[in-house]
Amino acid sequence: MFVCLCNGVTSQTVAEAVEAGASTTKDVAQACGAGADCGRCRRTVQALLRSSAPDRTARPT
Ligand code: FES
Repeated sequence: MFVCLCNGVTSQTVAEAVEAGASTTKDVAQACGAGADCGRCRRTVQALLRSSAPDRTARPT
């Protein structure tokens, strides 16, 4: 599914950016361009960040 029409970025590409360490919409924009233009896709990027981010509560202490 295309997330960012301005830059032709798919949800898969955003997920890959998150896996590579992106943790904010700014990180994702820098990594793949999603959200770097008109910004209409940022809410979707944010939702993808929440759903694809590793569970930070599961970190070993
Ligand atoms: S749709 Fe993503 S920046 Fe415009």
